[in-house]
Amino acid sequence: MSSNLFQTKPLQELLDEAADPKNGFKKALTGMNLTTLGIGAIIGAGIFVLTGQAAAQYAGPAIVISFIISGIACAFAGLCYAEFAAMIPISGSAYTYAYTTLGEFLAWIIGWDLILEYLFAASTVSVGWSGYIVSFLKDFGIHIPVELTAATGTRLINIPDHGWTQITGELLRHLANTGIQPETLAHTTAIANLPAMFIIAAISLLLIIGIKESAGFNNIMVIIKVGVIILFVVIGFFFVKAANWHPFIPKNTGEWGHFGWSGILRAAGVIFFAYIGFDAVSTAAQEAKNPQKHMPIGILGSLGISTILYILVAVVLTGIVSYTVLLVPDPVAVGVNAMGDKLFWLRPIVKVAAIAGLSSVILVMLMGQPRIFYTMSKDGLLPPVFSKVHPKYKTPYISTMLTGLVAIILAGVLPISILGELVSIGTLLAFTIVCISIIFLRKSKPDIPRPFRTPWVPLIPLLGAGFCLLQMLALPWDTWLRLIIWMAIGFVIYFAYGIRKSKLRNKIAC
Ligand code: ALA
Repeated sequence: MSSNLFQTKPLQELLDEAADPKNGFKKALTGMNLTTLGIGAIIGAGIFVLTGQAAAQYAGPAIVISFIISGIACAFAGLCYAEFAAMIPISGSAYTYAYTTLGEFLAWIIGWDLILEYLFAASTVSVGWSGYIVSFLKDFGIHIPVELTAATGTRLINIPDHGWTQITGELLRHLANTGIQPETLAHTTAIANLPAMFIIAAISLLLIIGIKESAGFNNIMVIIKVGVIILFVVIGFFFVKAANWHPFIPKNTGEWGHFGWSGILRAAGVIFFAYIGFDAVSTAAQEAKNPQKHMPIGILGSLGISTILYILVAVVLTGIVSYTVLLVPDPVAVGVNAMGDKLFWLRPIVKVAAIAGLSSVILVMLMGQPRIFYTMSKDGLLPPVFSKVHPKYKTPYISTMLTGLVAIILAGVLPISILGELVSIGTLLAFTIVCISIIFLRKSKPDIPRPFRTPWVPLIPLLGAGFCLLQMLALPWDTWLRLIIWMAIGFVIYFAYGIRKSKLRNKIAC
């Protein structure tokens, strides 16, 4: 029985599926299209929200170094994804890659883990969306009660010139240094994040009735996002106060992960979230004109461009304002506000770009999750209801509704830091398994045609897995505990259900 746990799905079966003209996609995407697709899926809450959070809590201005570390880890993992995407050019995911290489049990683990990437990421990004929409509406005199704009139980304080923000030890220290008594300021406790819940509900509804994100729509989103980020960097550069960069690496507080080099590592683990999405490029392998050539361009091109933009934003943002005031849902907006009233016109532009960009990321995540559930259900590892397709809209409506419902609850009650860290640790685990799978498959099936080969195997995959593990280790212990609990729930479901219903196992048993 235990050997069956590692039974792999025959690769030929998957390749035949991909070659079947009934499953044929139009091979129209060029390297440029795929790069745009990657940037569309990558740039979102990571840069518009988490940069501020990670700088304020863990790294200070040295968040720039965290972006470089995380970007390198992603480049290694990206190369491994490129090999798989070119070799198994079907709209699968890490779940499918693991099923053909490491066996069913590990495939289940990765599939269960991918829920942390897709479903939880949708909730995380929706919290970012909420921060920007609240800020945008406020500019037009529409005030949503502050108690309805943050995770349940969040303690908030109203700081003159900055507005409502979350209370932390760092912030209290900063206020004390500037001579402000926190007791004299208004404070309250949040009930739930209503706008975040709203956007998940709205996008889930759109997905159920079959709204598709077209390449054209994605291109417009990317032009807006990238254009506005460049505008922010160029204008922001003139408002940088070098004093804000000193010290560049704030002294460690005595606690591991709070500033200093350990803080840089921990922040790298947190902002790794900003890079998530390049794996979405690999799911379009079937539609690439020439996967061998275009997959690496799409994956590595979008990663490279995003890395450069992230570093520039981090440099400018931590130069405009003190990193201590960036623990807000809309740090880039805080940066623009600090540029003064003359740049009033830039405020709504930055916010519209963030809102549009975040919406497209939520859409991609909420679209991806039900499709992973669909594949797992088709393999028998999840109940058949997960692969039920709506008779009229032709969408996996029940799994979309279920995904939406869970994502709504998470978005309403959990803060972005907990959600984002959970997404990061889950995705890092998935990337680690993908990197290791490359080494395994090179050994177990050396003769499969590999249109794109990761260079220097096993060095690059080992470095990829190593960097990912390092970032995982740098994440807070409670994030690990949540991952362990999440995986334990997954084990229970697999041994109570999947192991008995698996189509592959039942086929072999017959
Ligand atoms: N990378 C995506 C974002 O930052 C998930 O929103």
